Amino acid sequence: MNLPELKIGNLTAHIPIIQGGMAVRVSTASLAAAVANEGGIGVIGASGMGLDELRDQIRKAKQLSKGIIGVNIMVALSNFIKMVKVSIEEKIDLVIAGAGFSKDLFHLGKDSNTPVVPIVSSLRLAKIAENLGASAIVVEGKEAGGHLGTDISIKELIPGIVKEIKIPVIAAGGIINGKDVAEMFHMGVDGVQMATRFLASKECEVSEKFKDMYLNARKEDVIIIRSPVGLPGRAIRNKFADKLMCGTVPPPVDCDNCLKHCSGEYCILHALDNSRRGLVDDGVVFCGEYVYKIKEILSVKEIIKQIVDEVNISN
Ligand SMILES: Cc1cc2nc3c(=O)[nH]c(=O)nc-3n(C[C@H](O)[C@H](O)[C@H](O)COP(=O)(O)O)c2cc1C
Repeated sequence: MNLPELKIGNLTAHIPIIQGGMAVRVSTASLAAAVANEGGIGVIGASGMGLDELRDQIRKAKQLSKGIIGVNIMVALSNFIKMVKVSIEEKIDLVIAGAGFSKDLFHLGKDSNTPVVPIVSSLRLAKIAENLGASAIVVEGKEAGGHLGTDISIKELIPGIVKEIKIPVIAAGGIINGKDVAEMFHMGVDGVQMATRFLASKECEVSEKFKDMYLNARKEDVIIIRSPVGLPGRAIRNKFADKLMCGTVPPPVDCDNCLKHCSGEYCILHALDNSRRGLVDDGVVFCGEYVYKIKEILSVKEIIKQIVDEVNISN
């Protein structure tokens, strides 16, 4: 099969692949621009950045690429609305909102003519998003990395949603190669969102130690952890995860109340940033369920070419 274009509002992506936004500072301008330059949609993971930092990252990505650049912002953040406003001021092409659901987002999108794309994990929320004016939805199944809104597989969620929803439906969770992409398109989706595969790329700016965790992960190392956000998260088992299981992770020392609701058990943004910086024993290493299928770090160009070639030879 040939991959179709993905249309979201007035935007047209020649490659119907969105690179999933990844906090903290995992998907920065460098990765987002590389994906946009290949015809996909590159996404800056805004959560955990300061407002000025986010502004700089958007400007940098736009300097590096004339393609489509979005931001992903966690609704669970206290400054969610401020981050959306900054992104719109910087003329971001689209806003994707994960880890929660915000009705206010739709007004901001409408007023500025910016497409908004909520991440949902049920038909009920998909319908609400469509009625509120979403330009598209990302449907995330239980196979996804990061915070999870469901324990249902993407393959179970998609058929009911594509049947009822008229706006573009983008599938996310556990999509690693061209065979996975083709399978989703055969189920009727308009696009796919992939994060884990793009973390293991040359352009992703995380430490080599983080990428090595991905390359060395075995199936049995992929676990579900508690996050203070109040949602479960998928991660690679490490010393930090073991401490979490025993309840011996020390509570945060400094806290700037970055989350609307936080259990206070540990600081998720700090733990994610630690892994990004290479302190992988002291951090959370978020990953998708099929991370263990990834065997090499490739450039974004190579990843997308490989996917397109694999899709082309599939029926
Ligand atoms: C390291 C990492 C960080 C993530 N951070 C975010 C985030 O900040 N906001 C969000 O909505 N989703 C986040 N996600 C989820 C991804 O954007 C994506 O939807 C999901 O991981 C797709 O599954 P895949 O990784 O198997 O492709 C993250 C995923 C990973 C692996």
